[in-house]
Amino acid sequence: MKISSERLSFRFFKHEDFQLFYSVFSNETVMRYAWIDKVSNEESANTLFEGFINTGDEVNKDGSYAFAVFSKEGNEFVGFADIVIHSRNNSGGCGEIGYFLLPEYWGKGFATELAKALIEFGFTRLGLHKISARCNSNNLKSEGIMKKAGMTLEGEFRKVRFKYGNWDDEKNYGILLEEWKAANQ
Ligand SMILES: CC(C)(COP(=O)(O)OP(=O)(O)OC[C@H]1O[C@@H](n2cnc3c(N)ncnc32)[C@H](O)[C@@H]1OP(=O)(O)O)[C@@H](O)C(=O)NCCC(=O)NCCS
Repeated sequence: MKISSERLSFRFFKHEDFQLFYSVFSNETVMRYAWIDKVSNEESANTLFEGFINTGDEVNKDGSYAFAVFSKEGNEFVGFADIVIHSRNNSGGCGEIGYFLLPEYWGKGFATELAKALIEFGFTRLGLHKISARCNSNNLKSEGIMKKAGMTLEGEFRKVRFKYGNWDDEKNYGILLEEWKAANQ
């Protein structure tokens, strides 16, 4: 399965993409505010990576999708994106999006474009009724993307993320299908 936006194309990770995946999840700058710390060796990264590979062209075993994202111009690997799905049934479902870009591709609006594409994918192709995202409250760049993608702040959880010796707060944003439709008609 592939999705695409104006400047980016997304496809599932394949086993041979491990070094691309590792370049993101072993990068200290990228993982500074992430829900996990950077992976310190290829062995531990490989366990994580295996969980993100789709065996076919359909939904993977945990009902979620992870994508390797490439620039259309130059076909360069830009980073990782995913949508994790829960509470799905015939009348909807909830998705949570995530995005990790290599630093050389920051500041080009790629993350906002990517987040909007994931939201559109979740609503139009997965039939979800709600999509959310969360970030470390200190991660202002990530919070900015949620806002630019049309999401609304729904709450802040205090001291739930342990980073560099501190328990940090986490902000939760979300957008409902009807809000997305109203903004995109
Ligand atoms: C958070 C992260 C994804 C942000 O990436 P990004 O590409 O810099 O974010 P944006 O899409 O908002 O782009 C940033 C800037 O590009 C600029 N830009 C440049 N060219 C642009 C274009 N053609 N179109 C739109 N914006 C453009 C924008 O002005 C924007 O600046 P602004 O924040 O003042 O609006 C990135 O820093 C990252 O991967 N961080 C590490 C991982 C992480 O923290 N992930 C989130 C976990 S919850």
